[in-house]
Amino acid sequence: MTSSLSITLIAFGIIAALAFFTAAGFRGSGKVADYAPNLSKYRNDDDLETKTLDRTLTVAVLIASLLTIMIPLYYLGEQERQEGFVEEFDEVSVERGEHLYEEFGCGNCHGVDGSGGAASYVEKRSGINVTWTAPAINNVFYRYDDEEVRYWLIYGRANSPMPAWGLEGGGPMNDGQLDDLIEYMHHFQITQSEELQAIEMNINSSLSRLDTSELLVENEIARQKELIQSVVDAPGKLPIVQKAVEDVSVLLSKEGGIDTDEDGLSDSTETELSAYSSSVSEVLGTSILNLDPDNEESIPGRKDKSVASGYLSQLESELINITIVAEGYDKFIKEAETGLAFLEKALEEKLWEVSFDEIADSTFDGDLEKAKRAVGLFNAYCARCHTAGYSAGVAYTKEIASGGLGPALRAGRANIQFKQREDLIDFIVKGSVNGKAYGVNGVGGGKMPGFGAVLPQSDIELIIDYLRGMTPDA
Ligand code: HEC
Ligand code: HEC
Repeated sequence: MTSSLSITLIAFGIIAALAFFTAAGFRGSGKVADYAPNLSKYRNDDDLETKTLDRTLTVAVLIASLLTIMIPLYYLGEQERQEGFVEEFDEVSVERGEHLYEEFGCGNCHGVDGSGGAASYVEKRSGINVTWTAPAINNVFYRYDDEEVRYWLIYGRANSPMPAWGLEGGGPMNDGQLDDLIEYMHHFQITQSEELQAIEMNINSSLSRLDTSELLVENEIARQKELIQSVVDAPGKLPIVQKAVEDVSVLLSKEGGIDTDEDGLSDSTETELSAYSSSVSEVLGTSILNLDPDNEESIPGRKDKSVASGYLSQLESELINITIVAEGYDKFIKEAETGLAFLEKALEEKLWEVSFDEIADSTFDGDLEKAKRAVGLFNAYCARCHTAGYSAGVAYTKEIASGGLGPALRAGRANIQFKQREDLIDFIVKGSVNGKAYGVNGVGGGKMPGFGAVLPQSDIELIIDYLRGMTPDA
């Protein structure tokens, strides 16, 4: 408000001054000079020192007073104006960030709202295509600062599904785009109390994963066996799919005949196609069509003609898949069997197991609840970086705290790095700082998150006592 007023005043002043000088230029221009201007007689001293001087001084005083009023007025509006700019700029930045989040599919892995999700990834030890857990990032600024988040965005996380996004890391985004993305991520953070309320749920789900571990691995084994079977079946299936693609193409290109429902497919084509789809469905695992020659939409909302061409596309993509598998048969069968052996060994070894009784006895004076909570917390908040294979799933999980992206912490190693319990607490609360020393011989990379805004001190202490109480591996 005040700023537009002062701009108006300034503009008004400039126009007035221009008018004044223009008028002065025209004054006296009507007369024809008798002498050259420098030779003509000018006004006398009296006139100059009284009337002219007074008038000039009055104008000067007026302009000075106008400025005296305008400058503070302008200044008063300035801050508001600048804030307006920043706000507008932020909003635009958030909007651009949102587009980037959508365009680059962050939501496919981290959830549309950033609440976490999963990604398909070939696990390195087993060669199995697993569902890798992608962490929630609608809370990421409670554990990392902007620069640390920027690091993960630029370089991604090697050996995980998280790609590099920054140009320096080989990704597509420049600095400005990363700024926008970070701005947008700030925008969708949950509140701290929501983050704290999630603690019990996080603990429960990590404990229930432990409870159901064996079942989860058994299911994976069953899936792997199905995969092997599908590879084994591929060469036999290949000619059948090839023939089906041919037969259905021929059927669909047939012209003429009676077409009762006038949908472009003759009655005989509809009947024959339905019968055909049912005859191959078991061998090929393709769908069964039930086209009604009297109805152009045998499935309400879908034209029979498009159902029929959809069926042909289904067969064609099946043909592509089966050809690939059949041609690479030896390689696929070997990979799938190596995977199965890996899973069976995992089920035998059960490296994910922890003994709550032992932990309770060795560390928590027999308090089983504390032992469970400590393990639940560790698995919910630390395991994805400090236990090998944790994010890939139970079958890939090595011994608790065996080390992954972060160092191994098992076997009482925390006591080697941190002599004092307080130092360890302090480190977990604040996390690491890039280039800064920690513990006895640690150097931070800014990669260890701080948990001071995420977990209450009592829970942090529980985790720490658990880590410190771990006995060295035999
Ligand atoms: C293909 C899946 C995938 C895509 C796409 C993806 N991420 Fe990730 N992201 C992950 C996974 C998985 C992790 C955790 C890696 C691990 O297990 O160590 C991760 C980690 C992160 C982290 C570190 C969080 C932490 O606390 O460790 C941030 C921040 C992040 N991603 C942001 C993004 C943003 C922003 C985008 C979009 C530009 C994005 N991610 C796209 C899978 C993905
Ligand atoms: C996003 C991955 C990540 C998560 C989650 C994580 N850490 Fe770390 N942690 C690291 C990394 C990486 C380091 C090594 C320091 C660095 O590079 O900044 C580290 C270092 C440590 C160290 C020092 C180990 C040593 O010997 O130098 C301790 C102790 C530790 N973390 C405990 C924890 C605990 C407890 C939790 C859970 C509350 C946790 N971390 C969660 C990544 C993580």
